[in-house]
Amino acid sequence: MRIVIKDTKKETGIWTADYIWKKIEAFGPTADKPFVMGLPTGSSPMPVYEEWIRRYKAGEISFKNVVTFNMDEYVNIPEDHPESYYSFMYDNLFNHIDIPKENINILDGNAPDLEKVCRDYETKIKAYGGIELFLGGIGPDGHIAFNEPGSSLVSRTRVKTLSYDTILANSRFFDGDMSKVPTQALTVGVGTVMDAKEVVIIITGFNKARAVREVIEGGVSHMWTISMLQLHEHAVISLDEPATMELQVESVKYFKDIEEIAGDKIPNHNE
Ligand code: GLP
Repeated sequence: MRIVIKDTKKETGIWTADYIWKKIEAFGPTADKPFVMGLPTGSSPMPVYEEWIRRYKAGEISFKNVVTFNMDEYVNIPEDHPESYYSFMYDNLFNHIDIPKENINILDGNAPDLEKVCRDYETKIKAYGGIELFLGGIGPDGHIAFNEPGSSLVSRTRVKTLSYDTILANSRFFDGDMSKVPTQALTVGVGTVMDAKEVVIIITGFNKARAVREVIEGGVSHMWTISMLQLHEHAVISLDEPATMELQVESVKYFKDIEEIAGDKIPNHNE
């Protein structure tokens, strides 16, 4: 696992945006062979999306041959609700870049048959030949997408009930009112994320520091579903300083030393 630590959230975002863009460039996507990417919502990826938008507007990058699969979506809130993940993605990324609408995939939390939506999502990902790179964030309890503590570590896309902690954390987007937060969501599984050829997780802020400790220094546990990343061949965790606060000083130094020695000079040195 490669751990990259930058001073601020913004620097972490810029590094991550640049790292992923270089992967896309190296892949050389075409209309017939697009780059397939998994994407998250939340405040963590915002600096990444801002940087991609800035670079798109500067004419440096194009998303024409990129296909996206979003990680998750609430059940039972209208697509055009300001807090749906659909709205989030269009407002914060898709409306500002040149990705074709038909390349965008978001789980439909309002469909009559949610199980079918989940099955079809997995089938569609496979039809594309799998996800090349999954970008993700985590919740303070270490969940990836909506794979709450106790989720199966080989889970696939499915309906999940949200934990108290997640409803509380996400109530900041619903006027601080927990009763307005949906209690269920559709989410890719831990197994779905693990199947991606590469996984990049961006984690910023002190409120994620405990989860970072569990993921990096703890063992693999279904109580911290992101810890499954330890078993991925190509995993990168991109952190800001506040997110490292619960790590041992020697762990931080160890990973910073490795970056200093290898940095971007060695391709795939996250192996
Ligand atoms: C939600 C999403 C996750 C996201 C998490 C953290 O629970 N389902 O995919 O990683 O929020 O969000 P934030 O980055 O805003 O802390």
